[in-house]
Amino acid sequence: MASSFAGCKLHMRGKGSLVTCQQKIESYIRRNIGTNVVPAQAQTLPDDVSDKPAEYKSLLTVHAERQEQAKRSVLINLQHRITEKTFLNYLSKHGKINKYFFYESYGSYAAVEFDSRTSIASLFEEAVISKTNSELMVPFKSRMLSLNNLSAPNSSALSDKKLQPQNSIHINHLISRLSALKTIDQQITSLTEAYQLTEENIRLRFLVCSLVQDITATYFPECTVQLFGSSVNGFGKLGCDLDMRLDLDGISGKQKKRGNLSLEYVMKEVTSERTVTQHILSVIGECVEHFMPGSVGVQKILNARCPLLRFMHQPSGFQCDLTANNRVAVKSTELLYLYSELDPRVRHLVFAVRSWARAQGITSRVSGAWITNFSLTLMVLFFLQTRNPPIIPTLDHLKDLAGPSDQSVIEGQDCTFVSDVTKIPLQSNTETLECLLCGFFDFYSTFAFQKMAINIRKGTEQNKSDMSPLYIQNPFEPSLNVSKNVNTIQINHFVRLCQESVWMLQQGSDEPSATKPWGLANLLLPSGVGGIRKGRKQGQIFSKEMILSLLEGVQAPSKDETQRRKNVAHSVKNTT
Ligand code: GTP
Ligand code: MG
Repeated sequence: MASSFAGCKLHMRGKGSLVTCQQKIESYIRRNIGTNVVPAQAQTLPDDVSDKPAEYKSLLTVHAERQEQAKRSVLINLQHRITEKTFLNYLSKHGKINKYFFYESYGSYAAVEFDSRTSIASLFEEAVISKTNSELMVPFKSRMLSLNNLSAPNSSALSDKKLQPQNSIHINHLISRLSALKTIDQQITSLTEAYQLTEENIRLRFLVCSLVQDITATYFPECTVQLFGSSVNGFGKLGCDLDMRLDLDGISGKQKKRGNLSLEYVMKEVTSERTVTQHILSVIGECVEHFMPGSVGVQKILNARCPLLRFMHQPSGFQCDLTANNRVAVKSTELLYLYSELDPRVRHLVFAVRSWARAQGITSRVSGAWITNFSLTLMVLFFLQTRNPPIIPTLDHLKDLAGPSDQSVIEGQDCTFVSDVTKIPLQSNTETLECLLCGFFDFYSTFAFQKMAINIRKGTEQNKSDMSPLYIQNPFEPSLNVSKNVNTIQINHFVRLCQESVWMLQQGSDEPSATKPWGLANLLLPSGVGGIRKGRKQGQIFSKEMILSLLEGVQAPSKDETQRRKNVAHSVKNTT
C-alpha cells in the first residue's frame, strides 16, 4: 500500500500561513444531488421553465431528456448580417422557440430548440436547395440549414449577437486567473468552472449526435446514436471529443406469435458481431463523408479493438468518434457519471489532475504509449476509495446496493451496480481539495507500480496478472488492463512528476504576487517554462528515450500536436 500523505496542509496565499486540513468543510460531506451541468446561459424565452434547480437525474434520464430536446433543434448557419430580433421574428413564425444561442466555428451559427418538432417540419417546408450550383449539391436534407439575408447579401455574417464560447480559455489566462486566488481549494474549483462543459456546449453535443442519428436512420430507422465518454460522464472539458455509439440493440423487434407461426426477417449472415460492426460502420462512414454537411476528414478505423469512424464536424468544431455496440464503454460512462455526482470533490480532483497531466505532457490528444484520461480518472477514483474514511465506495459495494432494475450482464460480464444515488451511504470525510490533490501526488509517488494493480472494484491494490508497467483493471472486464498501452518510460515520468508536484505544493508561496504563478497554477505551467522543473532545479528531466516514447506510435500529427512536440523538443534542449 502506498504511504498516506502525512503533511497535509491548507495553503493561504498572501499570508504564508498553513492551516491543517482537518477544517470542517460541511459542504463537501453533503451528498451532491445536482446534475453536473453548469447553469444555463443560453437565451431563454420568457415563459420557459425548463431549467429548474437541479435534482439528481440518472444518466439514462439525462439522455432521454437531452435527446428529445435535440430532436426539436436545428443548427443554422448565418451567412449574412442579421440582427437577433430579425432572426427571432423569422424563426418564431415556425413555432415557439424554447432556447437559442449563437457561436462561431468556421462561420457563425445559431442552435435553436423549438418547443415542438412540427416547427422543424414547417422550416423544411420553407427551405429550398441553393440555386447556386444546385446540380452540384448532394440533395440530402438535414437539420443543418443556412439563413441568408437577401437585403444584405454582401455583408459578412455577424451582427449584434452575443457569441457563446465553445472552447476552453487559454492555459495562460487560466494560470493568471488561478494565481490571483487566495487558496488552492479556490484554484481547484475555479479550474473546474473554467473548463467544464457549458449548457450550450452540452446542447450542441446532443444536437450533433442527433444529426448523426439522422444519417444512420437512413439505413436503420429504429437505431439510436448515444453519447458516451466525457461528453456525458461529468468529466468533460470544453473541446473534448464527441464519443458516440450506434445502438442497434433496439431494432430486433417484438416477437409476436400467431399460434405456432412466427415471422422473421431474412438477413445476411456474417462470421462475427465484429464483422457486422465493421460493415455497418463502413457504410455509415460513406454516408457521413458524402452526405453529412460539415463533416470532413472521415477515417474508418475498422481494425481497432473497438472499430470506429472518426471525423471532424466543422460546424460544431467537435472531433467525433462513432462506434457501434460497444456496450461496456457505455456502462463505464454510467459508472463515472455516478461517481462524479456522489461528491463534488470527485469532479474537482479529476479536473485538476487531468489538467495537470495535460500541461505536463503526461496525456495527449493523440493515442500512444501514454496514460489516457480514462485511466487517469480511474486512478483518481481508486485514490479516493483508499482515503480514511473513503470518499467514494468501491464498485463491489455499488453492486451490493443494486436493485432488480440495475441488473446488467454484458457479453457475459456482470456490470451491475446501483443507479440510484440516494441509496448510496457516504462516510463523513472532510478533507479539503488541497489535501486531496497533495494526497493524490503523494499516493502515486510511492505506489508499487512494478507489482501492484489498481482495481476500483475492490478499492484495494491487487497483484498484477502480467508485467504491464501500469495495470488498471478494467472495471467491467476484469481480465483486461485499460492502461496496457503505457510503457515504463511513461509511468516513470508520471511518478517523477507526482514526486515533484507534491514537493511543489508543500513549499507554499513565500513571495505572493498577483503575477507570479503559485499553487495549482504553478503545476500547470507548461513543461520547461517554470513550475515543477524550475522549482526543483533537477536539471535534465526528459531523456532521449522519453522523447522517442512520446513520439512512438503517433501518426499524422495535428497542427497542435506538431507545436506540442516542438515545445517538448525545445524543453529538452533547454534542460540538457
Ligand atoms: P476525453 O475524451 O479524453 O475527454 O475522455 P473520455 O473519457 O471521453 O475518453 P475516451 O474518449 O478515450 O473514451 C471514451 C470512453 O470510452 C471512456 O469514457 C470510457 O467509458 C471508454 N473507454 C476508453 N478507454 C477504454 C478502455 O481502455 N477500456 C474500456 N473498457 N473503456 C474505455
Ligand atoms: Mg472522449
